[in-house]
Amino acid sequence: MREPVPLIAGNWKMNGLASSAAEAKAIAEGIGGTRARVAVCPPAILTHRISEALADSPVIVGGQDAHWDDAGAFTGDISAEMLADAGAKLVILGHSERRQGYRETDEVVRRKVLAALRAGLEPLVCVGETLEEHDAGQAHAVVTRQVRGSLPPELKGTPFAIGYEPVWAIGTGRTPTCGQIEQIHRAIRDTLVDIFGEDGASVPILYGGSVKPSNAAEILHTAEVGGALVGGASLKADEFLEIVRAL
Ligand code: G3P
Repeated sequence: MREPVPLIAGNWKMNGLASSAAEAKAIAEGIGGTRARVAVCPPAILTHRISEALADSPVIVGGQDAHWDDAGAFTGDISAEMLADAGAKLVILGHSERRQGYRETDEVVRRKVLAALRAGLEPLVCVGETLEEHDAGQAHAVVTRQVRGSLPPELKGTPFAIGYEPVWAIGTGRTPTCGQIEQIHRAIRDTLVDIFGEDGASVPILYGGSVKPSNAAEILHTAEVGGALVGGASLKADEFLEIVRAL
């Protein structure tokens, strides 16, 4: 059984300008001998520029979303193929800011995963419960339902990752205890193994939600945590590098 290779990904969300290429370069220069794969996910319009800045570096560039269709009359949208053409290797899909702000259902996320696979992108599929669901003791049920609904069987044998991001921990400074993180990650692992058999054991399960230099080591060393999906603390190279080095 293959151990998951950890992945630490920075999700810049709607932040960054052309000048952010310097930040990306500083990340590439500082990652040293980490055993993690490191990714930065800038806004789509910067994909090409950041990919160029990171050419010849091991840092992977990712998108933050992609359409479920390959091309067509979808004003304002970006296809997975366009991201790949601009240099992206992976794509975040089903982030809670998409699920909530754009009413993306598990079915929509599943179709987007298929589009990512057609374009040769590695999907990083996000799941996570809201505060209401957390307080009602439904985290486990919600997250495992999202995993089952968002992952098509076509993922078997191809690289992908899961990001567990409790919605109430995103950008709030609040984080679950490591025990709570471990419990949900174990439930996700069991679900992955149930769907994909032994392949499910090597899928990295990232934790996301207020990861910062001060809590990164504890979170990254929690059982079943296969890396981190970092928002705010990924915007400055030095903070992001501290998180990478905490592994
Ligand atoms: O995708 C990363 C994210 O949602 C977490 O954001 O700012 O709490 O690290 P943040």
